[in-house]
Amino acid sequence: MAVTIKTPEQPEKMRIAGRLAADVLDMIGDYVKPGVTTGELDRLCHEYITGVQNAIPAPLNYRGFPKSICTSVNHVVCHGIPGDKTLKSGDAVNIDVTVIKDGFHGDTSRMFFAGKPSIQATRLSEIAFESMWLGIQELAPGKRLGDVGEAVQKNVEKNNFSVVREYCGHGIGQVFHEDPQVLHYGKRNTGFELREGMTLTVEPMINAGKANVRLLPDGWTVVTKDHSLSAQWEHTCLITASGFEVLTLGSDNR
Ligand code: MF3
Ligand code: CO
Ligand code: CO
Repeated sequence: MAVTIKTPEQPEKMRIAGRLAADVLDMIGDYVKPGVTTGELDRLCHEYITGVQNAIPAPLNYRGFPKSICTSVNHVVCHGIPGDKTLKSGDAVNIDVTVIKDGFHGDTSRMFFAGKPSIQATRLSEIAFESMWLGIQELAPGKRLGDVGEAVQKNVEKNNFSVVREYCGHGIGQVFHEDPQVLHYGKRNTGFELREGMTLTVEPMINAGKANVRLLPDGWTVVTKDHSLSAQWEHTCLITASGFEVLTLGSDNR
């Protein structure tokens, strides 16, 4: 899939889709508590997206994915399938929402905790969040994707955590996953050069242990090989003339 540059009227459509995706995460936060199942979180998001927002949950039937959101608990890195798993106190869950509105995609994820998280889970989530923002702050016309990768990787590794290599951010627009691939590791002044009007995600997955991951037999769920905790945050961003605009900010502006 090619890189796309948005036409002058398209960023507004991306803003709308981005805001809706963020609204879903704002909505679901209060439901993440001990005793809730990931399937119930999926059902609530599905109802909200289709019933309230008149939008489409992009994951549903995407390459055969069976649910409307991804719920990745504890050592699950990404693409966790919602189901009958009940959250218990201390569980950390990444909820990843992608909506399609008027043909355009908004893609964002955050970490949530059921009950009181461990110090390690809190720290891992904070470093994933901070690293995502350090990557986002590199975005501008003329900058290169290696600048993003290096900024993320340096911050993660300085804190003795590791960056997952197998999954990355991506261009996004009328297609869910477009080029370019946004790696969360790399070298400054290398890689794809950014241009105004591109939209892409920054979504580092970081592990408390080693970077290696394993795909479960369900064909979707990605876990850490050493069963260490994993965390991820994601925003959809627009490259503007002066730098970037984050299209999926939550009500708390994060
Ligand atoms: N939302 C994920 C991303 O950030 C992709 C999920 S694909 C699915 O790119 F099929 F697992 F939903
Ligand atoms: Co994404
Ligand atoms: Co996502």
